[in-house]
Amino acid sequence: MEGYTCKMTEYKNEITELTEEDLAEFFEGWKKKPSTAKRFNLLKNSDFVIVAYEGNRVVGFINAVTDKTLSAYIPLLEVLPEYRKKGIGNELVKRMLEQLKDYYMIDLCCDTSLAPYYKKLGFTEVTGMIIRNYDNI
Ligand SMILES: CC(C)(COP(=O)(O)OP(=O)(O)OC[C@H]1O[C@@H](n2cnc3c(N)ncnc32)[C@H](O)[C@@H]1OP(=O)(O)O)[C@@H](O)C(=O)NCCC(=O)NCCS
Repeated sequence: MEGYTCKMTEYKNEITELTEEDLAEFFEGWKKKPSTAKRFNLLKNSDFVIVAYEGNRVVGFINAVTDKTLSAYIPLLEVLPEYRKKGIGNELVKRMLEQLKDYYMIDLCCDTSLAPYYKKLGFTEVTGMIIRNYDNI
């Protein structure tokens, strides 16, 4: 069709092509946002990262940190607003769960409103306890 370009979402399991600038639009709604350098570092230092691309644009990502033995934690999942509700978030979680399939525990924290979303992906709702040191962002 003339003038129409259909962009496929691509998923990459590494960040070799990623720049700090690619992460500038993320961390929506955070009271205090980490610098783009910190955003890049946290992905670089994660045990697992999956990045979603539409063309050259980074439109979503998920990361996981582990003890390389039993436990894995998924700290962050985000899709840019204009790319939401197209299944990208779902795909990122499913791909991450596949990567983490040999772990005993796979945990994440989320708002109550997102509990049904994660339940559909196989998670169980539990009580979580957290500490947040905003000075350390
Ligand atoms: C949560 C998020 C990653 C979902 O990404 P997505 O690509 O839109 O997800 P999918 O297209 O696979 O699924 C869309 C579903 O997300 C669910 N959803 C998204 N945000 C939600 C919210 N705040 N509350 C409840 N459900 C939500 C809905 O059930 C929606 O289903 P619908 O299409 O029937 O309405 C995305 O909304 C996002 O980045 N939000 C901001 C960051 C965030 O909350 N991250 C999760 C941290 S635990």
